[in-house]
Amino acid sequence: MQYGHFDDVNREYVITRPDTPLPWINYLGCEDFFGIISNTAGGYCFYRDARLRRLLRYRYNNVPLDSNGRYLYIKDGATVWNPGWKPTRTPLDKYECRHGLGYTAIRGEKNGIEVRVTYFVPLGDSLELWDVTVCNHSPRARSLSLFGFVEWCLWDAQDDMTNFQRNFSTGQVEVEDGAVFHVTEYRERRNHFAYFACNAKPAGFDTARDAFVGVHEGLDCPRAVLAGRCTNSLAHGWAPVGALQLDFNLKPHASRRCHFLLGYAENREEQKYVRPGVANKAPFRAVAKRFAKSAAVEAARRQLQAHWEKLLGTFQAEVEDPHLARMLNTWNQYQCVATLNLSRSASGYETGIGRGMGYRDSNQDILGVVHLAPQRARERLCDLAATQLSDGTCFHQYQPLTKKGNSDIGGGFNDDPLWLPLAVAAYLKETGDASILKAKVGYADKNQKKATILDHLELSLRYTEHNLGPHGLPLIGHADWNDCLNLNCFSSTPGESFQCAGDIRGSRAESVMIAGLYCAACTEMAGLYEFLGQAEAARAILRRAETMRGAIVKHGWDGGWFLRAYDARGRKIGSRECEEGQIFVESQGWCVLGGVGLNDGRARLALDSVKARLATPNGIVLQQPAYATYHLHLGEISSYPPGYKENAGIFSHNNTWIQIAETMLGNGERAFEYYLSMCPSTKEAQIDTYRAEPYVYAQMTAGRDAPTPGEAKNSWLTGTASWAFVAASQHILGVKPTFKGLCIDPCIPRAWRGFKVRRVFRGKTYHIEVSNLRGVNRGVKKIAVDGEPLSGTVIPPEAGGKEVRVRVELG
Ligand code: BGC
Ligand code: NOJ
Repeated sequence: MQYGHFDDVNREYVITRPDTPLPWINYLGCEDFFGIISNTAGGYCFYRDARLRRLLRYRYNNVPLDSNGRYLYIKDGATVWNPGWKPTRTPLDKYECRHGLGYTAIRGEKNGIEVRVTYFVPLGDSLELWDVTVCNHSPRARSLSLFGFVEWCLWDAQDDMTNFQRNFSTGQVEVEDGAVFHVTEYRERRNHFAYFACNAKPAGFDTARDAFVGVHEGLDCPRAVLAGRCTNSLAHGWAPVGALQLDFNLKPHASRRCHFLLGYAENREEQKYVRPGVANKAPFRAVAKRFAKSAAVEAARRQLQAHWEKLLGTFQAEVEDPHLARMLNTWNQYQCVATLNLSRSASGYETGIGRGMGYRDSNQDILGVVHLAPQRARERLCDLAATQLSDGTCFHQYQPLTKKGNSDIGGGFNDDPLWLPLAVAAYLKETGDASILKAKVGYADKNQKKATILDHLELSLRYTEHNLGPHGLPLIGHADWNDCLNLNCFSSTPGESFQCAGDIRGSRAESVMIAGLYCAACTEMAGLYEFLGQAEAARAILRRAETMRGAIVKHGWDGGWFLRAYDARGRKIGSRECEEGQIFVESQGWCVLGGVGLNDGRARLALDSVKARLATPNGIVLQQPAYATYHLHLGEISSYPPGYKENAGIFSHNNTWIQIAETMLGNGERAFEYYLSMCPSTKEAQIDTYRAEPYVYAQMTAGRDAPTPGEAKNSWLTGTASWAFVAASQHILGVKPTFKGLCIDPCIPRAWRGFKVRRVFRGKTYHIEVSNLRGVNRGVKKIAVDGEPLSGTVIPPEAGGKEVRVRVELG
């Protein structure tokens, strides 16, 4: 079945039937106010924090999936329908949803009436605009009503879904001039409210869900809509909603345009009320005034468009492969920004209540956005470093609103600290801005001791060195990158968190993956010291990495590949001696990325073992053979049925490390074959199996051991986004920022005749043209920079003018 197609020119994914295999979503907002929106207008929005400041109520895992959202109902005679099909699911004569950069445009047509609506969050504001046009395409005059509908969440999304004995009594609203204000808890400890308004004067409103929908009815048949009239209800407790009714009389072929405003506003404590019991609506009025006219809405849309064009303009490529082109130029970069904004907090799979910002996740997210949002990357790096403790461990997660580490989960994930050096190095290579190293951020437990970012980086390496196990390899703690390899948890209590259970003190369990990551972090740090002119410090760090490489070769090599770990009793994991879980992907990736075995054949052997044992047409599975039963000493990984998630699922994230590793060894064929195998755009061809959005990466595709191989889950918020962009742009196309300048060193399939890249880097725009007339995978024969021959592959920042022409010949 076909559900849609890419519109590459407009950077949109066009969905042509509403009953997609799963809800296919998009994100609205890029600063403080965000929303998720599905192709049937489902979803919710929030201010900064999806848990603590949620505006709209959304019922995850409901039936049908994706219930509740930003609904428009049309009552046209006896027919009630929604332009996005849901929730009435009245069959439409025409339907189209275009997910674009920061906006979603839905168009539905029924019985000659067309409704178009574009949802977006304007830059610099904390609201959604719903720009609506109703057209009468029929030859007769029509009278119809349009109802805009939202259901308020009582701010704390967790409490909202659980604490009904209280919540059914706290809900409060105000209505003024046809605008609905959600003011629950405004009287007491909150200084913020939400609003739902329309620039046209409504014929009626409702704010009590029981009045608008009914108690026994559903959103597919709300009472007020069926009756054709809102009841002007005022909510007292129960479930406050915002419903606005607009009546239209449309001449043949006439149309009407209006827009809804759904937003968040704050007042200073002393300005909360205009008179007792009446909230001060001034912040809303100011916004409503600015967006009184459709022209202002349109201008805001154009501004948003320009914003995205500018961001994406930092990197644009012309390549022969259409999948690579659209992912690199639009969707992959767009997804990188979403992961930067939201980490793993709010998506179709992340409820916004759970995890907040992950330490390792957010550090890795920076790798994919630092070229287009360096300032935001810098801020994020400082926030992250501030959640490191003075002994070097890091809070595994923090809440975006408070920026405080989440003490429920705490630290002790021993890979966490090492991602900071990688991310800071990426920032430095991109910007050349060494001032970040002196920024003082302190430690989470000792804020008065203002440690600098450089102190944090040093501490991160020392943390690993101070936490080595019996083989000289890093102790794993609760888990490393693989959150489910819990070697110290031994959990037999239902419901216990695998990540938190178990005592890691005194444990001997070691991770070969962290060992490789440590070597890579050392290399980055050495480069950083060289950049600072401290050659001796650089050399000292490289020696420390050599020591670790020695330990890996001695104790972390299994003959044909790198071991994965040693368990708490010192037994091997990821070895041919094991019955299940003989080979894992992560340690193959990170040992090669950490420079182990590059010259002695081990790296090649390890990658060939990945190919032979783990590679499938849909990507590389995480390990083999899958664990068939639960193993107390392995933890969550063996809790998943074979083929899903960390238990031999195709975890897209770590596929990218193997792609990079293959380019390091010059195998451009394999690197790109792996790239395409997991590329979402290629999945349109098998979409009924794949099911998830074909325009963004999903965390996981079911592996060959699963009953549903090829089925994807957990789309959008995954570290795959940043790493896939890094792998394709820096390692396959080979346009790579380094401390010393922009390096061009592609590793591509032989059949490519060449490609072009436009890259903005340290204030200059590089127009790079690579030709591969001799049909090689790798090897730069000549580079000319503004016509001048360059020796080596790194273009120093001072070479060339503002617009730099770079011609590269491979051969
Ligand atoms: C998932 C992991 C995830 C972890 C986060 C586990 O259930 O399988 O992918 O990292 O939860 O807490
Ligand atoms: C998803 C988590 O967000 C990430 O931190 C972890 O590395 C992967 N799952 C693998 O377990």
